Amino acid sequence: MTDTHSFFKPADRIASFKPYFFASLNRKIAELKANGMDVIRIDMGSPDLPPTDAIIEELVNSARKKDTHGYTPNGGTPEYRKAVADYYAERFEVDLDPNKEVIGLIGSKEGLFNLSQVLLNPGDVALVPDPGYPVYSAGATIAGARVVNLPLLKENGFLPDLKVIPPADLEKAKILWLNYPNNPTGAIAPTSFYEEAILFAREHHILIAHDAPYTDVCFEDYHAPSILQLPGAKDVCVEFNSLSKTYNMAGWRLGMAVGNPEVISYLFTYKSQMDTSNFAPVFAAGAVALTSDQSWLEARNQIYRERRDLVVSGLRKAGFQVDTPQAAIYVWAHLPTGETDSTNFCERMLQETGVSTTPGVVYGQHGEGYVRISLGTATPRIAEAMQRIVNWIN
Ligand SMILES: Cc1ncc(COP(=O)(O)O)c(C=O)c1O
Repeated sequence: MTDTHSFFKPADRIASFKPYFFASLNRKIAELKANGMDVIRIDMGSPDLPPTDAIIEELVNSARKKDTHGYTPNGGTPEYRKAVADYYAERFEVDLDPNKEVIGLIGSKEGLFNLSQVLLNPGDVALVPDPGYPVYSAGATIAGARVVNLPLLKENGFLPDLKVIPPADLEKAKILWLNYPNNPTGAIAPTSFYEEAILFAREHHILIAHDAPYTDVCFEDYHAPSILQLPGAKDVCVEFNSLSKTYNMAGWRLGMAVGNPEVISYLFTYKSQMDTSNFAPVFAAGAVALTSDQSWLEARNQIYRERRDLVVSGLRKAGFQVDTPQAAIYVWAHLPTGETDSTNFCERMLQETGVSTTPGVVYGQHGEGYVRISLGTATPRIAEAMQRIVNWIN
C-alpha cells in the first residue's frame, strides 16, 4: 500500500492504532515463505481441523436452494437464534428467549468490539484483563472510553483481583471483561469466582461481558460452565460465544451474544445500522452444528490434548516454565531464564527456526516474558516445531 497519510489524515480515534498483530504477522510470513522458508505456524488460534460432514452438507444444500441468497434478518434467522437457545438449554441448562436474549454475530469478535460502542461514552471506564484478547481494549479505546487493566497473575491463577480496583475507576466503570477458559493463559475459573464477579457487578452497577468461545474445548474431566448458569446472572451479564473453536468454523464468521435482554437490544439496534447479518446457508449450517450430535467434540478435544502434551513436554525440555492447561487451544509458556523480551524472542525464533509463535506482550504488559503457542496446527507439524525449538535452544 502507498503511504497516503500526508494527504488523507485518519480520524483521531484510529490514528494511534496499528494493524492487528496477526494482520502484520501474516504479511511477514508470506514473505518468508516466498523466500523458501518452511514456516510452521503455531501462533494464531485458527483450528486446522474441519467441521463435520453434516455441517458442510447443510451449507452446500442450503446454498443450492434458489431462495437462500437474499438478505437475512438482522441478528440472525429465527432458526439460528432458536438453535442457540436449544444449545444453551442442552449444554448448560440455561434458559434463553431466542427473540430477546440471543443475537447472531458475524463472528464473536464483531460483537465484542461493538459492545463497547453501544455501552461506553467518552470518560467511562472498561475493566480489561491483562493479558487479554486485544479486542476488549481496542473497542473501548475507539469508543473514547478509558481502559483500566486488571493484571492476570500466575499466583492468582490468572484471575483478576476485583478487590484492588481503585474506587475512582470503579465509579466510572461500565463493563468488566472476563474470558474463561482464557486466551492467552489457558486458565479456567472456578464457580466461586463467577459468584464473586456477579456480586461485584451488582454492587457497582457494571455489566459483565463474559467472552466464552472455548467452553467446548476442555480436557480430561473438565467441563467449562456458562456464566449464565449462575443465579441472577442475566441481570448483569452478557456472554459471547462462537462457532469458531467449538465446531472448527473460524472462517465462517458465526457467533452469538446471549443474556441480558436490554444489552442484546442495544446490540441489535447498532448492528442493524452497520451490518446486514450473515449468509442464510451459514446460519442454517450453524444451526445444524449447534443442535446435532455433539459427541464428535470429544474425539476432537482428544487431538488437542495430544498436541497440548507434545507442546508442554517439548517446551519444558527447552527450558520454558509451563503449566498444563485444562481447556482452550493454547499453551502459555514463560520464557527460559535470561530471556525477557517476548517480541524479540519470537522474532529470533521465527527467523532462525521457521517456527512462528505469538509474543505474550501482544496481549498486554503483563503478558511480557511469555509466549503463546496455539494447538490449531497438524500434530506432526507441532511435533516438528517442538523439535526445532529444543534443538535451537539447547
Ligand atoms: C478470547 C477470544 N474471544 C473471541 C475470539 C474471536 O472469535 P470469533 O472467531 O468468534 O470472532 C477469539 C479468537 O481467537 C478469542 O480468543
